[in-house]
Amino acid sequence: MDNTVVIGAQWGDEGKAKITDILAENADIIIRYQGGCNAGHTVVADGKTFKFHLIPSGILYKDKLCFIGAGTVIYPEVLAQEIEDLKKDNINLSGLKISPLASITMPYHIDIDGYSEDNAKGSAKIGTTKKGIGPTYTDKISRHGIKVQDLFDEDGLSKKLDNILPLKNKELTMVYGLKEYTKEEIMNLCKKYAEIIKSYVCNDWQKIFHEAIKNKKSILFEGAQGVMLDVDWGTYPYVTSSNPVAGGACTGSGFGPNVMKEIIGVSKAYITRVGEGPFATELNDEVGEKIRNIGHEFGTTTGRPRRTGWFDAVVAKYGVLVSGLTSMALTKLDVFDTFDEIKVCTAYKDTRNGDVYEYYPTNVNIHEYLEPIYETHAGWKTDISKIRKYEDLPENAKKYISRLEELMGVKISIVSVGPDRDQTIFR
Ligand code: GDP
Ligand code: IMO
Ligand code: MG
Repeated sequence: MDNTVVIGAQWGDEGKAKITDILAENADIIIRYQGGCNAGHTVVADGKTFKFHLIPSGILYKDKLCFIGAGTVIYPEVLAQEIEDLKKDNINLSGLKISPLASITMPYHIDIDGYSEDNAKGSAKIGTTKKGIGPTYTDKISRHGIKVQDLFDEDGLSKKLDNILPLKNKELTMVYGLKEYTKEEIMNLCKKYAEIIKSYVCNDWQKIFHEAIKNKKSILFEGAQGVMLDVDWGTYPYVTSSNPVAGGACTGSGFGPNVMKEIIGVSKAYITRVGEGPFATELNDEVGEKIRNIGHEFGTTTGRPRRTGWFDAVVAKYGVLVSGLTSMALTKLDVFDTFDEIKVCTAYKDTRNGDVYEYYPTNVNIHEYLEPIYETHAGWKTDISKIRKYEDLPENAKKYISRLEELMGVKISIVSVGPDRDQTIFR
């Protein structure tokens, strides 16, 4: 398999893990390159459901190296739970590797994220997962972060905390009115975190990556979240704090752009979003409810009901551009099996002046004035979940797929018709 990046092309939860798991069978190395335990990745293998937050979705195969990359943020308590759950399921973790350069989420990051969300008023609310993601990345960028390698350098960590902790405690108490942490508490926590991570830290990653390139090993890059949640390219400020776009696979993994050959975006046949922010095709009616119920659209990480709406080709085209997608995987097509008709948004109209937008307007403040322009497609009214060949799909399903390809300007190379590994059509 050519080296491939798998990214979400909407607002997350597109089914990236399912696609990653399938492609991982033919990969040697799988790398999660950004995000943290805000991600909830579901793989259904032979009827059994696995949920990952940090561990790459390739871990179910015995002989793969699965890296948690430098661009990720790791909350060790969640990682410990994930490791324990996988061990209970007899999953072999000998291939799990953690970058010494990944950032650690500390309890104060979670305190700040939770406080900010609970106390934000009106449009300031983002609807984060409260997993400390924003505050951890903030500290990384402001150069106050703790990295995995710091956990194994007691002297270095002690000096770092002497610089960081007084400031952090001021922030906690004076800005947020939260409790402060003693240095002893944090040093003890870091010892515990080191214990959790110790057997997986990969200090010889340069040698492994170098040899992987030399020996033409197959590398699969697994993104979390999606293009529209990207901190630079998404619906800012209603985004996560990292770069899910394909460019993030370079900065977050340690491989350069020349290594990546295929970039597969994953889109649902409709769209969902959790948390706040613009969502032009959102359906606050019984059709939206029907999609939510049939598609089981409730968050893997937080259990929140996901907002639902029609496929938005303006969003898809934007993702194709900013991530250089070479093809798309279309998931959850089966969710439409009972629908009489299906709509697709092809552009937006500005209700103030009639202006039409064919490209995504990046200023979120104008979205309240935009309404989607739809075209309507006839449904197929057939159970497609058992179909495994593209030719066997109903004509109306093939027409829907062709039209999406035309609107997005990219081929749909994979069609998913159910959660299980085998419910997949390759073209
Ligand atoms: P991710 O975060 O992008 O990996 O996606 P999630 O795991 O959060 O959400 C996708 C959900 O849809 C999971 O429950 C999957 O098992 C499920 N799923 C994936 N592909 C399909 C599909 O083609 N049809 C149906 N019905 N469910 C699917
Ligand atoms: P996967 O990888 C869907 C959303 C949150 C919120 C915003 C910021 O499973 O697709 P954060 O906690 O990251 O600061 O929250 O981003 N969000 C996701 N939505 N899927 C995800 O991950 C998400 N990770 C974060 O709901 O709107
Ligand atoms: Mg998810």
